[in-house]
Amino acid sequence: MEINEMYENLKTALADVVPDVELYYKAELAVQINQLKKERNAVILGHNYMEPVLYHSVTDIVGDSLELSRKAATTDKDIIVFCGVKFMAETAKILNPGKIVLLPANAGCSLAASITAQDLRDLKARFPGVPVVTYVNTYADVKAESDICCTSGNAVAVVESLSAETLIFLPDEYLARNVARETGKHIIFPTLSKTHPPAGESDLDYQMIGWKGRCEVHEKYTVEDIRNVREQFPDVLILAHPECSPEVVAASDFSGSTKAMIQYVETTHAPRYLLLTECSMGDNIAAANPEKNMLRMCSVRCPHMNQITMENTIDSLRYNRIEIQVPEEIRLRAVRAVERMIAIG
Ligand code: 13P
Ligand code: SF4
Repeated sequence: MEINEMYENLKTALADVVPDVELYYKAELAVQINQLKKERNAVILGHNYMEPVLYHSVTDIVGDSLELSRKAATTDKDIIVFCGVKFMAETAKILNPGKIVLLPANAGCSLAASITAQDLRDLKARFPGVPVVTYVNTYADVKAESDICCTSGNAVAVVESLSAETLIFLPDEYLARNVARETGKHIIFPTLSKTHPPAGESDLDYQMIGWKGRCEVHEKYTVEDIRNVREQFPDVLILAHPECSPEVVAASDFSGSTKAMIQYVETTHAPRYLLLTECSMGDNIAAANPEKNMLRMCSVRCPHMNQITMENTIDSLRYNRIEIQVPEEIRLRAVRAVERMIAIG
């Protein structure tokens, strides 16, 4: 596709979101990326948080973590470029050991950084025989210590698939508590007493063993934010990612994975919507659904996802940057937990 055609396409999708001058500059980059992608027999997977031009011009597959893991498992291309963060690219490598998996920038995640494989080994020693459910927002060596993975899109189904009454669910404290609320399972935080919830926290039952990791983005939203927005826009529908606190989820109208949030907006009719998640998603939904009115709270951003740019995606394809490696001994153990998750759906 020539630059002018790319520019016109982008303008049709994004005229209300991105100014023309930026669209033209990025149309040139998009044409280069698509050319390199063809030459290198590569596929580009893009998480729903990617910035609107990248998301709409060069990705072959977009989605939430679950969808991207599933699609990564079936690609026949030689190279997978993951426009997302490192734990996602690692999951693609775990599922495709023979392919080159590239991450355009060294983009981390506060949840993945919150726990090490040794932390999990210590926890397992403390609670022997208790099954371990690990959020995909973890690195490969932590997955390798786990019985099954989950994403926010299937955490409830994964937990319900296990007959055990007590589970270790980590590393996201808030997701653990939200899943406990939905499944009727309980949380025990290993550092706390079994019978007394921590001071100031709600009266959830504590039987699922959680870990105090948090998403540095979603933990920032508060019930007070929601109250303020509703005061100004009483007709707004508010959607919260389940990495938000249970109190924020309870004060919202809907909670689900990034894909579930997109589907919710697409299938409901409200005067306006607010997403409590990375604000690029509001742009991407507005572009795909111009009739929807999306409010944005863009002071809260994911600094990791935002490291991925069209410029470093070009370099990634040109120079094989940054190639993801997972030692085979770790991969072999991690793949069981990831495949068990994919089998559940
Ligand atoms: P999803 O699996 O819902 O896409 O979320 C991934 C993530 O990192 C959210 O912050
Ligand atoms: Fe990690 Fe939160 Fe960023 Fe998602 S939004 S990648 S959970 S830091």
